Amino acid sequence: MKTIIFATSNAGKMREIRQIMADLPVEILSMKEAGIDIDIVEDGKTFEENACIKAEAIRDYIRSAGEDSPLAVYKDAVVLADDSGLEIDHLHKEPGVYSARYMGEDTSYDIKNANLIQRLEGVSDEERTARFVCVIAAAAPGAGETKTCRGTIEGRIGYKPEGDNGFGYDPIFYVPEFGCTTAQLTPEQKNLVSHRGKALRGIKKAICTWL
Ligand code: IMP
Repeated sequence: MKTIIFATSNAGKMREIRQIMADLPVEILSMKEAGIDIDIVEDGKTFEENACIKAEAIRDYIRSAGEDSPLAVYKDAVVLADDSGLEIDHLHKEPGVYSARYMGEDTSYDIKNANLIQRLEGVSDEERTARFVCVIAAAAPGAGETKTCRGTIEGRIGYKPEGDNGFGYDPIFYVPEFGCTTAQLTPEQKNLVSHRGKALRGIKKAICTWL
């Protein structure tokens, strides 16, 4: 059976990819489950660049492992990696690829969200447009090609944080079709419409011939 290694340590993302790939005859492992622990510098300027940097770094790490390394069993694995973030149109698409690092990695999302709402003070509904973006990169085994797939969900930045589900910027991301923020959706509802769900379903189609 083929193996897919997903470059994340986030349990929620692992759950989502397992749900979406459930009908494929593949084993899906997180980096940790595969015994991979490397630091990767995400210095790309776009979501695509960062996702490719991560997927290819892990694929190359596996490729360079010796025959007697425990990683040798993953030489034919497909490596997936994602990069995601929030783009706010009025703020010239900030925080964008810096979404996790915005105001510092250790700053709480209560503070980051309050800051973004404050930066939009006096801005009308129509100009509060924003989107979550997710790009998934898939690196083929060996020296193979890398494919990417982008998913987005359009919304608006709210006037106050609402909802306790989700994470990060979810409490300020209002989706007009649902009449609530993504932090007020159940995980199942969010997966059906989210940037990550769309990108994962797209990459699944793109890599099915590799599996
Ligand atoms: P990463 O791609 O896991 O590094 O995530 C980048 C950052 O984008 C996260 O830390 C969040 O700040 C933000 N982000 C990405 N997707 C979501 C989402 O679905 N909800 C809320 N915030 C998100």
